[in-house]
Amino acid sequence: MDESSFPPYPPGLKGHQLLPHLREMQRNPLSFLMRLQESFGDVVFFEAGKRRACWINHPEGIKRVLQDNSGNYTKDTIQYNMLSTITGKGLLTSDGPLWFRQRRLEQPAFSRQRLAALDQIVLPAVDRLLERWQTAAQNSALLDVDSEMMRLTLEVVGKALFSIDLSDSASRLTAATLTVLDDIVHRVRHPIGLPRFFPTPRNLKFHAALSTLDATIYNLIAERRQNHQRSEDMLGILLTARDEETGQPMSEKQIRDEVITLLIAGHETVASALTWGWYLLAENPLVWERMRAEIAQVLNRRPPKTDDLQDLVYTGWVFDETLRLYPPAWLITRKATQTDEILGYRVDPETLIILSPYTIHRHPKFWEEPGRFAPIRFSPGHEAKRPRYAYIPFGGGPRLCIGNNFALTEARLVLARIAQHFRLFLPESAEIKMDALVTLRPHGGLPMRVDSL
Ligand code: HEM
Repeated sequence: MDESSFPPYPPGLKGHQLLPHLREMQRNPLSFLMRLQESFGDVVFFEAGKRRACWINHPEGIKRVLQDNSGNYTKDTIQYNMLSTITGKGLLTSDGPLWFRQRRLEQPAFSRQRLAALDQIVLPAVDRLLERWQTAAQNSALLDVDSEMMRLTLEVVGKALFSIDLSDSASRLTAATLTVLDDIVHRVRHPIGLPRFFPTPRNLKFHAALSTLDATIYNLIAERRQNHQRSEDMLGILLTARDEETGQPMSEKQIRDEVITLLIAGHETVASALTWGWYLLAENPLVWERMRAEIAQVLNRRPPKTDDLQDLVYTGWVFDETLRLYPPAWLITRKATQTDEILGYRVDPETLIILSPYTIHRHPKFWEEPGRFAPIRFSPGHEAKRPRYAYIPFGGGPRLCIGNNFALTEARLVLARIAQHFRLFLPESAEIKMDALVTLRPHGGLPMRVDSL
C-alpha cells in the first residue's frame, strides 16, 4: 500500500500530552480509559516516542482483533511477557505452533462429558466450606469471602484437572498465587524497580512464593510418574503426549508451565467472579430473592447436579451479569505484526492493542443503564439484540478461554449450593473498592457476614 492511501491514525494522546495522565494510568487504568472514551470515542491512540498503543472499545474492532484477523496479533505484550515470568510458555502466554499443538492436546480435558462430572468435585468442596461457614455463622464472625472463594476454586481445579487433593494446602497455595500475581502488577506499574535477582524483601517474597508453587507442581508430576497410574485427567494427557514428528514426550518444564497456567488461570478468575457475585447479590436483594426462589423450586433442598443447571436459568444469568460488571480478566492485550485497518483507522506493526472486557461491558451504546445489575439482560430476547463482541468475559476467536464452560458450570453449582444454606450480607460500614490487578479484586478482601437459612 502506498503511504498516502493509508487510513488515518485514531485520535488520542501523544508524547507530552500523556504526562499529566501517567499517575492515573498506573493507579486507576479503568477510570482513565472510561474518561478517554468521552473525549475521543471508541478507538484511542497513544504514542510515546516509537511506542504506539491503541485502545479499541467497539465490538466490531474487538472482533477484528480477536477473530477476523486474529493471525495478525500475537501475545508478545508487556502483560503476557510479565505473566510468562511465572507461567513460562503455557497455553495462556504461548503463540504460534506451540500454542496450537498444546491447545489441541488440552481440549479433551474440557470435554462435555468431563464437565458433566464436575458436580462430583464441586459439591464435596462446597460442603467443606459450608461446614466452616456454619461455625462463623454461629459466632456472628465476619468471613473474607474473597479468600474463601479462592480456596474453594483452587481445590476444585486441582481435583478436576490433576486429581489432587488440595484441601489442606489450598490456603497456602492461594496466598502464594496472590503474591506472584501482585508482583507482576507491581512491576508493570513500577517499571524502573530493581531486577528480580536483587534480594529485596519483595523479591525474596516473590521467589519464595514461586518456589512453593513449583515444589507442589514438580511433586505432583513426580508422584504420578512413580505410581505409573494411567489417568485421563489433564496431567495424564500432558504426561502421555508424544510429539507427532519426533515421538518425544513433553519436557518437564513444559508440563510444569501448562500445569501452573491452568492452576492459576483456572482458580483466581472464577474466585474473583464469585466474590463479586456475592457482593452484587448482597447489594441487590430483589435479585437475590428471585435467584433463591428459582433454586428452591428446581432443587427443593437437594444438592444441585450438573444436569440441573439447564433449569437454573436465572442463576446462570446472575453469573453472566456478574461477569459483565466485574469481568475478572479486565484487560486483553495483543501486538500487531502487520499493518491493519480497524474501524477506518490505521494500525501499524508493533502497535500494542488494548481491549478491555470491563469497558466494553459498560459501553452505553450497547448496554442500557450499564452500571445497573440486571441479570434479565441475559434472557434470549435481550441477548439477540447485542453484537456478540459487546460481551467478552472469556475473550473470543481462537484464543477464547479454554475453561469457559468449566467456569460457568462450577460457578453456577457453587452459587446454587451456597444459596441453599446461607445468605451473605455486607457489614454496614463496608466500603468496597475495586483493584484492577491481574484480575479485578475487592481492595483488602471482601468481609461479609453469613446467616444460616
Ligand atoms: C470466570 C472465569 C474465567 C474468566 C473470566 C476467564 C477469562 C479468560 C480470557 C478473557 C481469556 C482470553 C485471554 C486473551 O485472549 O488474551 C482466557 C484464556 C484462558 N483461560 Fe480463562 N477464564 C476463566 C476461567 C478459566 C478456567 C476455569 C480455566 C482452566 C481451568 C482457564 C484457563 C484459560 C487458559 C489456559 C487460557 C488460554 C487459552 C488459549 O489461549 O488457548 N480459564 N480466559
